[in-house]
Amino acid sequence: MSDANAAAPRPEAADEVVLRVQELTKYYPITGGLFRTKVGEVKAVDGVSFDVRRGETYAIVGESGCGKTSLGKTVARLLEPTSGTIEFRGQDIAAFDDRQLKSIRREIQVVYQDPTSSLNPRKRIKDIVAEPLVVHGVGTKADRRDRVAELLARVDLPQEFAYRYPNELSGGQKQRVAIARALTLEPSLLILDEPTSALDVSVQAKVVALLEELQAELDLAYLLITHDLSLTKNIADRIGVMYLGRFMEQADADELFARPRNPYTEQLLSAIPIVDESEAVYKPEKIEIQGETPDPSDPPSGCSFHPRCHRVFDDCSSVAPSLVRVGEDHTSRCLLHELADEDAPGSATDVDSTGRGDR
Ligand SMILES: Nc1ncnc2c1ncn2[C@@H]1O[C@H](COP(=O)(O)OP(=O)(O)OP(=O)(O)O)[C@@H](O)[C@H]1O
Ligand SMILES: [Mg+2]
Repeated sequence: MSDANAAAPRPEAADEVVLRVQELTKYYPITGGLFRTKVGEVKAVDGVSFDVRRGETYAIVGESGCGKTSLGKTVARLLEPTSGTIEFRGQDIAAFDDRQLKSIRREIQVVYQDPTSSLNPRKRIKDIVAEPLVVHGVGTKADRRDRVAELLARVDLPQEFAYRYPNELSGGQKQRVAIARALTLEPSLLILDEPTSALDVSVQAKVVALLEELQAELDLAYLLITHDLSLTKNIADRIGVMYLGRFMEQADADELFARPRNPYTEQLLSAIPIVDESEAVYKPEKIEIQGETPDPSDPPSGCSFHPRCHRVFDDCSSVAPSLVRVGEDHTSRCLLHELADEDAPGSATDVDSTGRGDR
């Protein structure tokens, strides 16, 4: 047990902020020419701020290419941030060096979309699940065997699976193994990057139920990344809707579904099929989503969403809206909020410096 006590003690406060991200950016250089000089950049994450509390699920939702994975990997410090702060349990890990990051690697774990590519096909399940213990030099061989048994039980897999290889398991079972491995070192934050989108629909709900059960038992904070707004309906506590690297809207999950304020969120909601009429708290008329996501290296002028927006007006192509407060713990980025005759509840207040509005 070399560094088992390295983690800081956990404060008892029920609303402990595990992760506080402020004005985070991640830009990728675009190089060209013979000498591969920088000719531009992709602003994959462009000034994003949010908090995740202990035991809470914060969902990041948006279409393909909007920067969700870049955000998740940067928060986990698998990618170097361009600027901004990533406060993890009170420490800014944005500037941590490799040595400092070692303890963070135990505390923040990532579960990816495709368990087939994230699990080593040549290793048995027991070695996959125990690997983080080996890497971090934790426990004896017997301790590791016990931990693997405990984790397989936790994710509802039979003990005999310890001796199998990934290709002997179904997609859902493999994702359970990936979740078990992520839990091995008792992290406080799991980043779940499209954790169910590679699975059969029938299996998705079971994996979601498992994640919820684990969160309740272990008081885990989740950063859930998904393109599927409907997936967040029952599991997210708060939601950030992302478009071309920026938050368009951020709110409590119930509030976002009941009173969406941003046209982009309206379009995403309008695309969700209604399963149960009683659940349709807010259901905009079917809105035809226009066009494709623009090239992130050359975003539209003004509001980046304006070419696809059903509420577009003249100024939208020239004036970039700020993220403004539109309600209790609710922010949105749209020029409509900044018009004097805005008829929505609550006065819109500019919060772009922190992205948090009332906090
Ligand atoms: N290593 C990289 N170098 C250059 N550009 C990149 C790199 N990784 C991602 N990008 C670009 O950054 C933008 C955001 O990509 P990212 O993978 O974060 O989006 P995403 O929301 O996770 O998409 P998806 O839903 O398809 O997984 C895209 O335009 C992508 O092409
Ligand atoms: Mg992605």
